[in-house]
Amino acid sequence: MKQKCYKGLNFIPYIGSDRIQARVRELGGQITARYEGRNPLLICVLNGAAPFALDLFRAIDTDAEISFVRLSSYEGMESSGKVKQLLGLTEQIEGRDVIVVEDIIDTGRTMHKLLGDLGAMKPASLAVATLLFKPDALQCPDVAPDYVGFEIPVRFIIGYGLDIDGMARNLPDIYVLADEA
Ligand code: IMP
Ligand code: MG
Repeated sequence: MKQKCYKGLNFIPYIGSDRIQARVRELGGQITARYEGRNPLLICVLNGAAPFALDLFRAIDTDAEISFVRLSSYEGMESSGKVKQLLGLTEQIEGRDVIVVEDIIDTGRTMHKLLGDLGAMKPASLAVATLLFKPDALQCPDVAPDYVGFEIPVRFIIGYGLDIDGMARNLPDIYVLADEA
């Protein structure tokens, strides 16, 4: 893996695709064991969680469904602090076993809002799977992800769904901003 440059900033390799894929298979195995016979509904938060959600979905070896919603709070490299509305949920989730799939939990505000909205729809259970988790950035103590790919320090990262102003989502590997490494 080589260094990448976006918007004049240098990013260096951080988590390689082999490690990502191995970890996603482990999480898929844990979800399979826990939800066997229960047909869980994965709710993928677009756009960032799409690569992770699809890989995780295929790593689940029991009946499962997937749906996609949109709810974002990030512009550029800083959290805007404003959380937008939940859009695009067409499934009836009352009585379902729901697993929300996110790319990253930073302050936790996005997930806090989403869990409130989804919880009000009375799912049978509500779990959270996130590829990345920055525990030291968390500002919502009620947000406790059930499935975490990697816990990372408070750094700005890109790749495998994570973007800088829409760029870099297609990288198979994850990179970190060089100055902070
Ligand atoms: P939160 O509401 O602060 O937890 O932010 C969650 C959202 O912010 C994620 O879904 C990402 O879209 C974005 N985000 C947080 N940290 C990063 C990062 O390091 N790189 C790119 N996007 C990030
Ligand atoms: Mg996101």
